[in-house]
Amino acid sequence: MRTEIFYRASRHLALIGFLSLLIFMTSHIGSGQTPNDPPQNTTTQGLSGNWAVKTQRADGTWSKAYFDLKDEGGKIRGTVRSTQFYYTIIESTGDANGFAFTASMKDGKSDRTVKYEGRLVGDELKLSTRRRPEDKPTETAAHRVPDGEGAMPARLPLPALKKVPYNGLAKTPTMGWNSWNLFKSRVNDEIVRGIADAMVSSGMRDAGYTYVNIDDTWEGEQRDAQGNITTNSKFPDMKSLADYVHSKGLKLGIYTSPGPNTCAGYEGTYGHEEQDARTFATWGIDYVKYDWCGARTLYTDEEMQAVYQKFGEALQKTGRPIVYSLCQYGRSDVWKWAPDVGGNLWRTTGDISDRWDSMTRIGFGQNDLAPYAKPGHWNDPDMLEVGNGGMTNDEYRTHMSLWSILAAPLLAGNDIRSMTPEIKSILMNNEVIAINQDKAGMQGKRVWQAGDQEVWVRELIGNSHAIALFNRGPAPADVSLKWSDLGIRKNPKSVRDLWQHKDIEISGPEYKVSVPMHGVVFLRIGK
Ligand code: GLA
Repeated sequence: MRTEIFYRASRHLALIGFLSLLIFMTSHIGSGQTPNDPPQNTTTQGLSGNWAVKTQRADGTWSKAYFDLKDEGGKIRGTVRSTQFYYTIIESTGDANGFAFTASMKDGKSDRTVKYEGRLVGDELKLSTRRRPEDKPTETAAHRVPDGEGAMPARLPLPALKKVPYNGLAKTPTMGWNSWNLFKSRVNDEIVRGIADAMVSSGMRDAGYTYVNIDDTWEGEQRDAQGNITTNSKFPDMKSLADYVHSKGLKLGIYTSPGPNTCAGYEGTYGHEEQDARTFATWGIDYVKYDWCGARTLYTDEEMQAVYQKFGEALQKTGRPIVYSLCQYGRSDVWKWAPDVGGNLWRTTGDISDRWDSMTRIGFGQNDLAPYAKPGHWNDPDMLEVGNGGMTNDEYRTHMSLWSILAAPLLAGNDIRSMTPEIKSILMNNEVIAINQDKAGMQGKRVWQAGDQEVWVRELIGNSHAIALFNRGPAPADVSLKWSDLGIRKNPKSVRDLWQHKDIEISGPEYKVSVPMHGVVFLRIGK
């Protein structure tokens, strides 16, 4: 990481500098101050102007924050644009010698604010930033850049709402892998090729995991002269990577945002919807995740449907079958309109993390969305964390069982190249995958709950059911199941334990079993 310093060493500036010094000295002689006293106001414009903090990332791209300020002597107005965020200054005190301001998100919904303190020292705007009072401040320095650089683009009109036809894909929940949960910005061409190799050698591909999806941070700094999106140094040739992934019998997915910037602050698709969809198709991309993030600076939540429709139409215009994954964190009841914009899956919540509380809060919170899942169109409670190390294997079995009962996309988020046998046995449990991939495509529901114990049921094709007995409590617990409570009057003909991989003999109207702490007993029953 290094911070770019904007020095414009021209004779012109040197002359201005010399004149300023003269003015400074003259004014201080008059006021009785000596040149050694601290300056009262270092430039005539004070803080006014356009400032940038630019930090170079390991992949050669720059992370940028812009401050467009108007110094009104005791009051500072203006905007701050930082990665995906765009703030307006709402309060301020001080001037170039020492100021503080609070800026707030412009989208009218979020109350996200950011606080800056700082002062002008020579050419540098020294800044100390905090989001919350308890945060440790981050120290940076901004430098003057030409007016207009980094300005928010104009808001483009949106299409009238209409139905985008179903693309015929994702008849069962999508299965594959995604780079974000584990690799974040470290993902690169070599890792993706290695993952593709391991998808084959580990048996993941044959278990049904088909899509290898590159998430955020593949994008280049600048579009080319024709406005085509480019890759950064981590991905030297996306087309050849797609060819490689395809040669393994797998498919390649990519990520972008409807905004000018992605969540990680990289180049977004805003204003280039058709062009980027065409580029992706030319590269051989089979899946696109379209992440709202940067679009919040230009559009309201009410406009999301039109924004997503625009890109849904663009994808279909390419003529290539491309799975369309909506990522806008479940805002604006997306499950009600996502199929209409051509969406195959839509995120229902914010980001998952590799922790029991995050996974269960998301997974067990999906009950009410069951009616919206159907072949071709799935609720997406986010990618799997199985194998990332933050949960026990019992917890990962709960994660995998819950996502299967929910007919949720199964996108592994771990390092497929180095899985333990136990993690393999969780991700590649064919009997559990078969529940997830059941062709009826009906999402399961909670049918019983008492304290930390819950029973969920999913109806399967051919008059059978998947039943998951979950124990969310901190100690093993007995859970009893009355077949009649599941609408099964007689004892079922067959019961199979999907984690033990064995048939269970049942007698009587009830089945009682001990479920491990944070664990699950997952059954398939035939009537
Ligand atoms: C958002 C999404 C994540 C991931 C990151 C990438 O947070 O919800 O799944 O794509 O952006 O920046």
